[in-house]
Amino acid sequence: MMTASSPLLQIEQLKTYYPIKKGVFSRTVGHVKAVDDVSLCIYEGETLGLVGESGCGKSSFGRSIVRLEDPYEGRIWFDNEDITSRKQKELKRVRTRLQIIFQDPYASLNPRQRVADILAEPYIAHKLVPRSEVQVRVNRLLDMVGLPKAYKNRYPHEFSGGQRQRIGIARAIAFEPKLIVCDEPVSALDVSIQAQILNLLADLQQELNLTYLFIAHGIGAVKYISTRVAVMYLGKIVEIGDKDELFRSPKHPYTQILLQAYPKPDPTLRGDKRIVIQGDVPSPAHPPAGCRFHTRCPYVQAVCRSEEPALGPDAHAVACHYPLA
Ligand SMILES: Nc1ncnc2c1ncn2[C@@H]1O[C@H](COP(=O)(O)OP(=O)(O)OP(=O)(O)O)[C@@H](O)[C@H]1O
Ligand SMILES: [Mg+2]
Repeated sequence: MMTASSPLLQIEQLKTYYPIKKGVFSRTVGHVKAVDDVSLCIYEGETLGLVGESGCGKSSFGRSIVRLEDPYEGRIWFDNEDITSRKQKELKRVRTRLQIIFQDPYASLNPRQRVADILAEPYIAHKLVPRSEVQVRVNRLLDMVGLPKAYKNRYPHEFSGGQRQRIGIARAIAFEPKLIVCDEPVSALDVSIQAQILNLLADLQQELNLTYLFIAHGIGAVKYISTRVAVMYLGKIVEIGDKDELFRSPKHPYTQILLQAYPKPDPTLRGDKRIVIQGDVPSPAHPPAGCRFHTRCPYVQAVCRSEEPALGPDAHAVACHYPLA
């Protein structure tokens, strides 16, 4: 499905930093470098899976793309438009085409609004649909995400977790967006429900020609849905490539470790030379010099401690001085 056309989303050297403030005058004494110089493209119709350990900056990256966070540096091009410094008013127009789904839809749904009103709100706010047509649209949304119309008058707490995520998805597709950032949309759900929601997202992708950035902790969670996979470590992309290729022959030691942690149906396929990741994730406020992974890498060499490896321009790119063969 990947096309040679220009990317739908182009991220150039994006940095998302959070100031660390101290003292009575709240002086900025440093920064949490949640996303630190990330460049990548997302092409129309594909699903880019983004994986990495907790705190590595996945949500900060996803939220920056939809401009829920303001980038510290860098550029965000979406649909041939530079949206890096768009003001909130201008973003309203962009957000009909660029949406986000959260891990916990409950936190983002107003508990005092009925579903009918939650879903009608974007149509009313954007004034893109005549008032008389709004309920027809709401019914169609419910239908698309597999919720009975009879549920329209319920409040968010009257739904199961899976159903609530369906409401979150319905709201995101109100204007048939081009790109949806899915920030761990199934992580909080029962395993049996996870597959249903993943199937729904896959069906909607076909139906509406959607493009996804799909964020997950574990690499196994992105296997089913992704076209390509990007691996993040401490604010950086350390490897990116076609899903099958990356699963078959990971080049970064960190990717290899993530793949080993992912349980395979046949334990004999795991191989006998399992390497173990050592130590804790360093602080993103004080990332290690050189390669950020060097403090935990089983293959560390002298150069890794002093020189930062760059992520090359190849289709399967890796940021490592000694990539795995
Ligand atoms: N609003 C904020 N202010 C200050 N620091 C923040 C803020 N949001 C995130 N951080 C910090 O930025 C780093 C990256 O956090 P982020 O939520 O992006 O990680 P994540 O990869 O999404 O983690 P998880 O898998 O647990 O969701 C963490 O060290 C986190 O503590
Ligand atoms: Mg997160």
